[in-house]
Order: sequence, then C-alpha cells, then structure tokens
Amino acid sequence: MERIVLSPRYLPELSSVPEEVLSLREGMVQVSSLIPQIHEETEFWLARAIPDGSISTVAVGAYETILRTIAGVTSRVFVGLPRCRDEKWLDTAVNYTMDVFRLSSELRPYPPFLRRFVAPWLASTKRLQEHVRVASDCFGSIFAQRLAEPDGEGKRANDMFQWMADSAKGADRSTDVLIRKMLFLTLAAIHTSTMSTTHALFDLCAHPEYMEPLRREIGETVEANGWSLAAINELKLLDSFVKESQRLNHPGLPGTFISMPTNAIARDPDNYPDPEQFDAFRFYKQRQSSESEVNRHQFVSTGRKNLAFGHGKFACPGRFYAAAQIKMVIAYILVKYDVSFPGQQTVRPANNFFGESISPDRRQTVVFKSRRE
Ligand code: HEM
Repeated sequence: MERIVLSPRYLPELSSVPEEVLSLREGMVQVSSLIPQIHEETEFWLARAIPDGSISTVAVGAYETILRTIAGVTSRVFVGLPRCRDEKWLDTAVNYTMDVFRLSSELRPYPPFLRRFVAPWLASTKRLQEHVRVASDCFGSIFAQRLAEPDGEGKRANDMFQWMADSAKGADRSTDVLIRKMLFLTLAAIHTSTMSTTHALFDLCAHPEYMEPLRREIGETVEANGWSLAAINELKLLDSFVKESQRLNHPGLPGTFISMPTNAIARDPDNYPDPEQFDAFRFYKQRQSSESEVNRHQFVSTGRKNLAFGHGKFACPGRFYAAAQIKMVIAYILVKYDVSFPGQQTVRPANNFFGESISPDRRQTVVFKSRRE
C-alpha cells in the first residue's frame, strides 16, 4: 500500500478538503439514550468473564476480556436484545476485523494489479465471505423488514438497524449493502475501543495511586445520581485519565492512506511538557486552568496536537459513543474490583508494533479482586 506521511502543518488544509474526496461519513448516534444499554451489557459481559461470588480473586486475559465486553456492548447498541448475545454473530463481530487486516497484509506483497486474482484463493477471503453469510443469516430479514415497513415495529426501536434503514437512500436501500455497512461499522468500532480500554486498564494496574481519586469522583457523581450521559460527562478526572492513556498509547490504525505522525506529535515536548511521564490528570488540570479551557482537552476533543480520533471533517464520528463506552467500562471495573498485574509485576507490558498497527499486549493477564464481598 502506498503511504503518504504528512507534516502536521498540512492539517488545516487536509481538514478543509471536501469530505467526499477522502471518506464517507455515517451519521452520529444519540449517545444519551444508549447509556442504560451500555451499562446493562457491561455488567452482563464482565460478570461472565470475571465470575465472583465464591471466587473473590481471578486472573484473566485482559485483552480477550475487554474485547468480549466491548463486542457485547457494541452489539447490544447495534442490534439490540436478544440478537446481540448470539455467539455466532459475536464471533463474526470480533473476527471480521482481524480477517480484513489479515487479508490486507497477505495481499500487500503483491503488485496492485495482481491482488484481485490472488485474493479469491486466500483463506482469509473465504473467512470474510463466511462472516458476510453469518451477518446476512442473522440480520438480513430484519433489514428487509425495516426497509419494507418504515412505520412498522422498528419505528420505536433505538438500534442500528433503524438508524441505517432510515438514512439509506437510493441504491443503499438494499439488504446486502446495509449488511456490509454494518460490518464496516463493527470493524471501525470494536477493536479501536477495545485497545483504548485495555490500555486504560493496564495504566490502572501500573498506577494504582489513581484508583482512589477516580473512585471518589465516580462515587460523588454516578453512584449518587445513577448512570446517565450527564453523569459520565461529569467524570472529568476519569476523562483525563483515559485521554492520557491514549496519548501515550496511540492507536495505530492499519489501512490509513494519508498519515500523520500522530504518535510523535503526542510525545513532542513542545506539545506536552514532560511527555514521557504518565500524568493521569494532565488534561484535567488544563481544563481547570481558566474558564475558556473548561470544555477543551476532553477525551473526545481533537486538534493539531491531538489526533488519536483524526481531526476536522475527518474526525471519528463514533468518538462520543466510544468515550461513553470506554469510561463506563473502566468506571464499572473501578467500582466493582481492585485490579493489578499478577505476582510482582508493576510495569505495564510493552505495546506490540506490527507494520503501522500498535496494540496492547494480548497475552497480559490482570488480576480482578471483588471489592464488595
Ligand atoms: C477509541 C476508539 C476509537 C478510535 C481511536 C477511533 C479512531 C478513528 C480514526 C483515527 C478515524 C479516521 C479519521 C480519518 O478519516 O482521518 C476513525 C474513523 C471512523 N470511525 Fe472511529 N475510532 C474509535 C471508535 C469508533 C466507534 C466506536 C465507531 C462507531 C460506533 C467509530 C466509527 C468510525 C467511522 C464510521 C469512521 C469513518 C469516518 C469517515 O470515513 O469519515 N469509531 N476513527
């Protein structure tokens, strides 16, 4: 794949290129109405992965646990109950992304004109076809019904089927197109959020001194007033914590054609004093520094120094949902468990670099100890 890495000074121009030239954007979702579902599904999947009751301490593979939780939460928001817990669909939701990236790296050594002849023979192509078949089996008839009956049962549903059916126009009003778009959204949503949440969990284990102030904040806001978007937005220390974790662990997203050196920007001392230091409340302090800064430096904010979610017209449209989900999962873990690395380990594992992709170590286990037994 040819790659152009641009200097950040081209950002203003890049952000003003007409959107259709570079990418296609899906609509924003109403995050607020999704909070009860995100909460219920976080509870369901974490309880499944980390059984408590008689067992009060359990060590689990961190990435896999978070991946299953985020996939479960995302599926709930996308396809609702009971379909979101269908194991066949969940396997596709998790593995579709892996197979897309596997296929792209398998095809990369071939010259572009040969790739379409090679692709049909590769095992990952066959697996991708199988994922499309599973998604069609699970959801084809629902999409067909929602398209055919715009005023039917779906009218009251708060799910991805209905948002997509409502916004599809012309040739997009086809079950096949909607299934593929849904798989694309699954790809954009699950592994990105899983990586950020896993990094934040590693940072909690590596910096346990932040657990109590974060818990206090959660106690004063969410536990007192219940889970709502307003309450999650009040978790300013937690917001700063996950943003700092993301700053030092930038998601390398494979498949980017025009790139910015986002990782180097995030560690440039001209942008962030003492950039190698994990200062969980760095962004919180910036928000408190003056009245004009209060709404800046948030996890979802993007800017020249802050490109984890892209910037300008091309900023990630899913980031408001992603932020609510990541903060909810981390807050839930903080309320319910003490977390640590196993044994004497105090330092987080090094990230894995594969081509342009950067991800947390998938072999790392984390010990969860129930707090209220
Ligand atoms: C921590 C989690 C996430 C990160 C770090 C992230 C990051 C990004 C980045 C860097 C881009 C590329 C922007 C560009 O074109 O320059 C992007 C695009 C996109 N993201 Fe996210 N994302 C996350 C979560 C999500 C979620 C949860 C969803 C869906 C619910 C989502 C949906 C999308 C879509 C649809 C695009 C393509 C937008 C376009 O082509 O214009 N993302 N994301």
